[in-house]
This record gives sequence, C-alpha cells and structure tokens, in this order.
Amino acid sequence: MTSPRLFVLEDLFKFNNIVMDPLVEVYSLPFLLPKILEHPELVLAADAPDNSLMGFILGTRVEDASESFGDGKSMSWNHGHISAVAVADDYRKLGLGTRLLTTVRDIMDRQKDFYIDLFVREKNTNAIGLYESLGYVKYRWMPKFYADDHGYEMRLPLSRDVDRKSLEGIMIKKIYSFGNKLYYLLMFYIFGIIAIIIGGKLVE
Ligand SMILES: CC(C)(COP(=O)(O)OP(=O)(O)OC[C@H]1O[C@@H](n2cnc3c(N)ncnc32)[C@H](O)[C@@H]1OP(=O)(O)O)[C@@H](O)C(=O)NCCC(=O)NCCS
Repeated sequence: MTSPRLFVLEDLFKFNNIVMDPLVEVYSLPFLLPKILEHPELVLAADAPDNSLMGFILGTRVEDASESFGDGKSMSWNHGHISAVAVADDYRKLGLGTRLLTTVRDIMDRQKDFYIDLFVREKNTNAIGLYESLGYVKYRWMPKFYADDHGYEMRLPLSRDVDRKSLEGIMIKKIYSFGNKLYYLLMFYIFGIIAIIIGGKLVE
C-alpha cells in the first residue's frame, strides 16, 4: 500500500477521476485553495503506480470555535474537520480510505485538536460504515443539509478531549433528530396522499 503524501497544487489537474462521483462534493477553486494553503499538512494524496491519483483527503482546522455545553459553560477550542475524502473506483475496498483518515487523524491528534467532525450524506452508507469503523459517531441529523439529501454530522473525540465533551448533549440531539425525521416522514406521506387525490381528480 502506497504511503499518503502531501497534496500539491498540480494534483488539482489530476483528481477529476476521483471527484466526478455523485457522492463526492465538488468544490470550487476559491473554496479549495485557501484550505490547501492554510493547513497543507492536513491535505494528502496517494499515488497509483501509473502516476494517477488513487485517493485524496482534504482536512482543515476550525480555530477557536466556541461551543456551549449541558452545564451552560462555553469553551473555545480548535477542532479538525474533514472536508472531503475520496478514493478512485479501481482502488476502493483496499483500505486506502482508512489509511487516509487515520493518517490525518494522527496529525490532528498530535496538533492537539479536540475532536474531528465531518458531514456525510444520509444515503452514503459505505462512508458512514467506514467512519463508524474508525470510531466516529453520528452526532446529529441535518435535514436538507444537501440540496438533494439529508446529512449527518459525525464526530470523533481525540485524546485531548479526555471527558468526551465534544459528544456532550448527543442524547438530546438524537431525540431532536428523531422528532425531525418523524416530521419529514409525515410531511412526505401527507404530500404524497394530497398529490394522489389531486391526480385522481384531474384524471376524472
Ligand atoms: C468512502 C470511501 C472513501 C471508502 O474508501 P475505501 O478505500 O474503499 O475504504 P476502505 O477500503 O478503507 O474501507 C474500510 C471500511 O469501510 C467500509 N466500506 C467501505 N466501502 C464499502 C462498501 N462499498 N460497502 C460496504 N462497506 C464499505 C467497510 O466497513 C470497510 O471495512 P472492510 O473492508 O473491513 O469491510 C470510498 O468508497 C469513496 O471514495 N466513495 C466515494 C466518495 C465518498 O463517499 N466520500 C465520502 C464523502 S463524506
């Protein structure tokens, strides 16, 4: 298995085969460039023997983000964020996704980030399975986070987060998410029934 190396700007001309996948968010250059330049050590690529790209990961850092907890106190901390991770079709299920994620996780851990978070489509069960196998947990459900899908925020506490504060309030979030899902399901059926009734009347 190849070792991940730092992503370089030339790789932007080589990664179309990877990002042109409906499950990969395709970002514009103004989004990508500052992230690559700001924390280059968190953006990695893996090369195939023919010099094409097998996969890449775009990690970033959210600095001094303030969050409040169950006890009402708020804290400021740095946390890592995975903006994108993708492996080319031919190289999937070989452990490369795991390798990219664990390499970036170890760097973020050494740099004293509190936790890592990421967003994933609800339907992307492969990626969710991968993240769960690495210890990420579904932190909250995010209705309509994507134009055509709901999403999850997933989090992985790092060693600095001894008390797992980054997962505090997860039960409340789960209950809230359940209520939200129920609401969306109800709306889906109500609008479905209305559409059938109106459709039936139009046919008559
Ligand atoms: C998600 C993705 C990065 C996984 O990369 P990968 O190199 O195939 O992942 P790994 O080989 O390390 O897989 C590790 C684990 O993830 C899960 N997994 C990954 N792909 C899977 C699949 N197709 N079906 C079921 N489980 C899968 C399994 O638990 C797997 O462990 P196992 O091989 O012991 O069963 C890759 O499928 C991909 O690029 N998908 C499109 C882009 C994408 O969805 N990115 C994430 C956006 S948030």
